[in-house]
Order: sequence, then C-alpha cells, then structure tokens
Amino acid sequence: MKKNAGVMGFPIAHSLSPRLHGYWIKKYGLDADYLAREVRPENLKDTLRRLPQECLSEGSVFCGTNLTIPLKEAAMDIVDIVEEAAQKIGAVNTVVVNEEGQLIGRNTDGLGFQDSLAEHVDIKTFHNKTALVLGAGGAARAIVFACLMMGFRRILLTNRTRQRAIDLAQDMKSEKIDVIQWEERAAFCKEADLLVNTTSLGMTGQDPLELNLDRLKNGCVVTDIVYVPLETDLLRQAREKGYRTVDGLGMLLHQAKAGFEAWFGIKPEVDAALRDYVLQGLNKK
Ligand code: ATR
Repeated sequence: MKKNAGVMGFPIAHSLSPRLHGYWIKKYGLDADYLAREVRPENLKDTLRRLPQECLSEGSVFCGTNLTIPLKEAAMDIVDIVEEAAQKIGAVNTVVVNEEGQLIGRNTDGLGFQDSLAEHVDIKTFHNKTALVLGAGGAARAIVFACLMMGFRRILLTNRTRQRAIDLAQDMKSEKIDVIQWEERAAFCKEADLLVNTTSLGMTGQDPLELNLDRLKNGCVVTDIVYVPLETDLLRQAREKGYRTVDGLGMLLHQAKAGFEAWFGIKPEVDAALRDYVLQGLNKK
C-alpha cells in the first residue's frame, strides 16, 4: 500500500521539505509520496481530522504530515496526543497517524538542532556548561529545550522583547534559564560555551545581528538557525576568529529524520549529497 505524507503551511511554496523527503523516498526506493499542501489556519482542524480516512479510500495510507508556519501552535489543540517535547516547546511540527487512526503531535526541532550540533561537536562536552541563546520565538523554544536535554548547567536567554524570554523560561519550568538584558548580550559572550542565534536577524533581507564577539569565550561553538545566507555574518566572524561554527541548514535536515522514520519505517541518513541537493533547491528559490 502506498504511503503518503507531506507538509502543510500558509504559504507553502517556499518549503524545502518536499525536496528533502523526495530525495530520501527515491534513495530508499519507497512507494511513497510527500506533497506540499497550502492550508489556511482556519482550515487546519478539518484538514488534519480528514487525513486518515481521505487517503485510505484512495487505496493508499496517510501516515502523517509536517507542519510549518503558521500552523505549528494551532495544531496543539487539534491532535489527539501531544508528546512531551511538543508540549514543552508549545508547537507541533510533525504529526504521525498511529494504528488506531489517532493523530500524534510531535516536535522534532530540538532533536534536529542537537543532531546537527553532534555532526560537528561531541555534545557530551556540553554537560554542565553554559549556553547563550539569542531570541525567544518559536525556534528559541525548541533550542532551549534541546539545551536542557543536552545537560547544560545554565542557559542565558536574551530577547529584544524581554517579556517573551521570561515567558519562555517559565514555560520550560527550569531554574537553569537566566534571562539577561538584550543590551548585555555581548558582555555575556565571555561565559558562553555555545552561542545560538535563533532570531531572524542576519537573514537575507532582514536587519543585521549586531554582536561583538571580541569577548567570546575560548572554545565556544557558534551556531545560527538562519540558513539564508548559509554562512551568516555571525558565523563568518566567528570562523575568522577561529571558533567552530555550525550552520542552520543542518537543523532543517536533521529535524526531518524522525518524521520520515515514523511514517515510512526507515531511518534516513543526512549526508553531504543530501545537503548539496537541498542547497541547490534553496538557490533556485
Ligand atoms: P520563529 O518562530 O522563527 O522563532 P518568531 O516567533 O517571529 O519566529 O521570533 C523571531 C525572533 O527574532 C524573536 O526573538 C524576535 O524578537 P522579539 O520577540 O523582540 O520580536 C527576534 N527579532 C526579529 N527581529 C528583530 C530585531 N530587529 N531585533 C531584535 N530581535 C528581533
């Protein structure tokens, strides 16, 4: 029986997920489809609820879907079961239809971030260390969650809108998170073993991220969730100063693995060929 999955969002044309999953479907020779669907927030409930029956009647089985902007938060109230990571992060990016036809809401962004880092660094070394996280939006939630999972002792969190950082810290229910002033971000660089930009600053077409790295701690690993451009100003500056850097494309690739495995039963591999193929797609957009 043919297996179907896909991605829903509004708009959806920009999504790289069809290219990414399409690559794996071909690579592993699966009888499967992964399609992008434009779904307005007001139609999400009906669309998700209809999915299992809709596709079974066409002789194929619907295994689940990815969700992207602006549907990730709304899905929390629609799915039947929200897994722990999704609960903490407050968003669902992957829906899996289980054998009883229930919708399971999962969030794989934190794991994606962790696996992306693990490609470059031994993440066990982060145990009891300090992370400095810039931003307090949806992506920051997944990354702070991942930092807690990785065993950081302290997470310094800062955001232009301070209240959002305070809310994030409260939702995570962890005393390891210290909210610091946005204006003090450069001063706290001297304490960071991991520095993560989760804001949209530095993305092509957005304002630059202003951050002086002169006081950055020796050995700090610098990462950015922005992947357009692939090497942001932050990453370039860090690299030129001799720090290890991890770009944002890895998180996108690695977050997709768990959904693919749950839907299609194969643990897919993130390798250089996949990265190149997705990058080509990015350059066409
Ligand atoms: P996402 O879900 O991708 O994280 P988001 O929820 O819109 O998107 O969050 C965007 C992040 O970038 C926020 O931390 C935002 O800060 P505010 O909460 O103060 O809006 C940050 N951001 C965007 N533009 C910014 C700017 N010009 N200066 C500082 N931070 C900015």
